[in-house]
Amino acid sequence: MEKVLFVNCCIRKEDSRTKKLADFFLNELKKTGAYEITELSLMDEGMTYLSEGFFHQRDELLAKKDFSHPRFRYARAFAQADKLVVAAPFWDLSFPALLKVYIENLCVEGITFACNEQGCFGTCKGDHLVYITTRGGFYEGTPMEMGSRYIEAMCGFFGIQRYDCISAEGLDMGLRPVDIILQEAMEQGKEIAVNF
Ligand SMILES: Cc1cc2nc3c(=O)[nH]c(=O)nc-3n(C[C@H](O)[C@H](O)[C@H](O)COP(=O)(O)O)c2cc1C
Repeated sequence: MEKVLFVNCCIRKEDSRTKKLADFFLNELKKTGAYEITELSLMDEGMTYLSEGFFHQRDELLAKKDFSHPRFRYARAFAQADKLVVAAPFWDLSFPALLKVYIENLCVEGITFACNEQGCFGTCKGDHLVYITTRGGFYEGTPMEMGSRYIEAMCGFFGIQRYDCISAEGLDMGLRPVDIILQEAMEQGKEIAVNF
């Protein structure tokens, strides 16, 4: 079985439309019987922004190449997963700050990336990341959409070859029923699940 890490940043938890999409997608994966899915709910991790002491400790550990320290657990789990699913709502043109804090925890030289004379390159095992998001307005394909585009760029940095985004937009515009918009995104999710 392939190991899937599900990073849940759906802040509104069970009220979240993004979480509904993610649940649908994960259920499609479960039906195949091919994946072992582990959920990391960022809302339950008590994470805070990275501050000065954190960097001192990180530098000391990295100098000793001590990657076993618990503070690197997020980076280790991310780097070791075969596939990744990340779900977060579209907030202020990108995603909640909590997801950025998580990403800052992932960026550990020696675990998720390495560097040589040519520059840095990703060292994650995973070959596919699916990002799931919902937006109140319409931003897909515009320069103001910096959630999916940022996550795609991070995939490149981490060495993850394939990236897909499942998104539903215009959910807060009152133009079309939310359930229908979500249903369309679920159809998109079905296809991506087949080729995961
Ligand atoms: C703090 C906050 C910021 C938001 N910023 C945007 C935004 O910049 N653009 C947008 O289209 N919708 C924005 N929205 C609306 C959400 O993207 C939309 O309601 C989304 O479906 C919420 O996902 P959820 O139901 O999973 O929580 C924002 C909502 C919140 C709570």
